[in-house]
Amino acid sequence: MMFTVAIDGPAAAGKGTISRAVAARFGFAHLDTGALYRAVGVKGGDPVAAARSLSPEDLARDDLRTLEAGQAASKVAVIPEVRQALLEFQREFARREGGAVLDGRDIGTVICPAAEVKLFVTASPEVRAHRRWLEVGGDAAQVLAEVKERDERDMNRADAPLKPAADAVVIDTSTLSVEAAVAAACAEVAARLR
Ligand code: C5P
Repeated sequence: MMFTVAIDGPAAAGKGTISRAVAARFGFAHLDTGALYRAVGVKGGDPVAAARSLSPEDLARDDLRTLEAGQAASKVAVIPEVRQALLEFQREFARREGGAVLDGRDIGTVICPAAEVKLFVTASPEVRAHRRWLEVGGDAAQVLAEVKERDERDMNRADAPLKPAADAVVIDTSTLSVEAAVAAACAEVAARLR
């Protein structure tokens, strides 16, 4: 069976948590596509060459979740050749046997426009910055500024900007518990599997 769940949204909206929970609940494979861009960003050197030669070791680095890696990722993510180099891997993953969940910024719009389920997970910048601050610590005002800067860059780039697909179901997690957000996402998948 092939079945793709596309989960897009801005940084720290809860995509990762929801994606992992949906994948576990339905036995689907999960790909965090942000990790691909983070790995390209932290590798250094020519980003296009880095994207073309990305290896499992690059994706296993333990510094991919830092604020710096997030910023570096959103800078290399504006380069069309970088996006192109990562496209086929993501599409193949999406069509694997047994079902797949991919989370990112352009899964429902560009990578898998025919995905069976498309979710757009969002939350206010303040709520997202607070969640990110709980993860990474440091100066809260700086974390908020970083979240807003990355939103700005991701939403306004020319190639594959962050936006909900026309047929995406929006889940705003600003005031939802993790359990409620996961339940809403699972209900969408279950409804489509019936
Ligand atoms: O989701 P995460 O915060 O790990 O993503 C890091 C950055 O990678 C995003 O801010 C965005 O610029 C880029 N990205 C993207 N397309 C995706 C996933 C991530 O452009 N599908």
